Amino acid sequence: MSDAILKIKNLKIEFKSGKETVQPIRGVNFELKKGETLGVVGESGSGKSVTSLAIMGLLPERTSKIVDGEINFKGNDITNLKEKQYRKIRGNEISMIFQEPMTSLNPVFTIGQQLSEPLRQHRNMSKKEIEKAVINVLNQVGIPRAEQIINEYPHQLSGGMRQRVMISLALLCEPDLMIADEPTTALDVTIQAQILELMKNIKQENDMSLLLITHDLGVVAEMCDRVVVMYAGEIVEVAEINELFNEPLHPYTRGLIDSMPTQNTRKERLYSIRGQVPRPNEITKGCVFANRCPLAFSKCFEETPPVFARDDHLSKCWLQNTKEGEVV
Ligand SMILES: Nc1ncnc2c1ncn2[C@@H]1O[C@H](COP(=O)(O)OP(=O)(O)OP(=O)(O)O)[C@@H](O)[C@H]1O
Ligand SMILES: [Mg+2]
Repeated sequence: MSDAILKIKNLKIEFKSGKETVQPIRGVNFELKKGETLGVVGESGSGKSVTSLAIMGLLPERTSKIVDGEINFKGNDITNLKEKQYRKIRGNEISMIFQEPMTSLNPVFTIGQQLSEPLRQHRNMSKKEIEKAVINVLNQVGIPRAEQIINEYPHQLSGGMRQRVMISLALLCEPDLMIADEPTTALDVTIQAQILELMKNIKQENDMSLLLITHDLGVVAEMCDRVVVMYAGEIVEVAEINELFNEPLHPYTRGLIDSMPTQNTRKERLYSIRGQVPRPNEITKGCVFANRCPLAFSKCFEETPPVFARDDHLSKCWLQNTKEGEVV
């Protein structure tokens, strides 16, 4: 599709640990359209963060490798960029918000110093202009007393305020694409709702595209236009948000939806999908989800399903095997 800002094609990533090589990303395909919020969901270990680090060019250099595929950003394959070229994109055209703000804020520099840095790097601005821009962006994310906050250190702020600073850091250079990896998981529920609302508004005001990574389908329902469901390093379903909730096609997605807490089920025991996501070295033949799937039949244990399509709704499951729908 020509209106895509990001296209990931058949991405495969390997990690080396000791003598062993594992492949936690095993042929991932998706597109992020300009201006849309695309959710990436899946349980812990499904490969969400590794995928986002790959887009940012932040995979550990010595132990990991993109072995196949393409990450196409605004028409260019960025998988083989040199670090120097990546620095021009990172924080400037693509920025990222991490789950735990303290891991990306430096404790020994003030908020003002840290927010000035990307502008010094990417923009030709005077000191005065930079300070004005920093205060401006802090106001935009709803931080009170911005003139004082710029002289404070990260530990002097609450968790919610630190996450707002992280968002302002990601916004500074007006990126085209923002990747948010579990941006609110570390926050309590009321603050979480505020931050999500803030991100929604900011995305609209700044005309950005947003890749929102979360294991929380409630967050997805609140924020996203479309959703990519990841499982064990593969994409098992892609759907527009209403379709995903009204007519999930993959048994894994159904399991995730059934595990969502609702007000009515509070008293009952919450459903959970039996078993765990296989580690990359435990994956054998057949469908990756077969050993946990309540609907699996013999073929599922023997042959890897292709991706089946019903219009834009994709599902990697043998149950969707209607001949006309097969796309791969
Ligand atoms: N640096 C690394 N070296 C080796 N293996 C790694 C490394 N980082 C991640 N992995 C493996 O890659 C797989 C995917 O991990 P990833 O962090 O992307 O999962 P995730 O979907 O983000 O999970 P979570 O919801 O817990 O954040 C896991 O099996 C993990 O153990
Ligand atoms: Mg993660």
